[in-house]
Amino acid sequence: MSEMRLDVVTLFPETIAQALDYSIMARARDAGVAEFSVVNPREWTTDRHRIVDDAPYGGGAGMVLKPEPLVACIEELLGEDEAPVVLMTPQGTPFDQATAHRLANHDRLIVVCGHYEGIDERVRDLVVTDEISIGDYVLTGGELPALVVIDAVVRLLPGAVGNAESPVTDSFSDGLVEHPHYTRPPEFRGLRVPEALTDGDHAAVRRWRRQQSLLRTMRVRPDLLGRAELTDEDRELLAEALDDAQK
Ligand code: ADE
Repeated sequence: MSEMRLDVVTLFPETIAQALDYSIMARARDAGVAEFSVVNPREWTTDRHRIVDDAPYGGGAGMVLKPEPLVACIEELLGEDEAPVVLMTPQGTPFDQATAHRLANHDRLIVVCGHYEGIDERVRDLVVTDEISIGDYVLTGGELPALVVIDAVVRLLPGAVGNAESPVTDSFSDGLVEHPHYTRPPEFRGLRVPEALTDGDHAAVRRWRRQQSLLRTMRVRPDLLGRAELTDEDRELLAEALDDAQK
């Protein structure tokens, strides 16, 4: 099991450092699964005022992050290593579970948080290898998106999540959303736990979960269902559920 080194480049290091200090991220660090470092590109400025942004060429609102400190910072972090340098931006490729798996296969990752109106295009040209968006909306900075990506990647690393199986069985790993979960009590406010889960028949549990997963995906994410590779049994389970719903 090799440790993954994650560097985050941000003008607001405290936000990232704090968020990584809890729960599974902190456990992954303590267990030697991931090592986090958070750096501020301001430290790579060379002028007296430590300026990281400037007005855009061509005019317009907002400020643009200057290329020199960012590129110097990222190049120093990389050294002789090769690693994905991921820029968080609403102009990036939409993030998904497959991308999380791909990034989790590297032993190093550098995540760059944009801020203000944007970042000088030459940073992309020179050092950025991937641009990732977490969704079609615009946030004030790349810090929250960076945390989303880091969380999704780190929990896939061997040893990060207690139950080694859960990252594989969860939603999206098979292209479907997950089935419902229940715990005690067996009845709560008149709502009973489905019998299939309490009868002790493992095959019935598996079928019920698969059926629910298919049904849910059809309701909330028909786009995923269209792309999923369904078995004959899946089709039967879905048909049976739709049949029951008509009764
Ligand atoms: N920065 C601002 N909005 C973002 C988004 N939706 N995804 C990634 N980075 C961002």
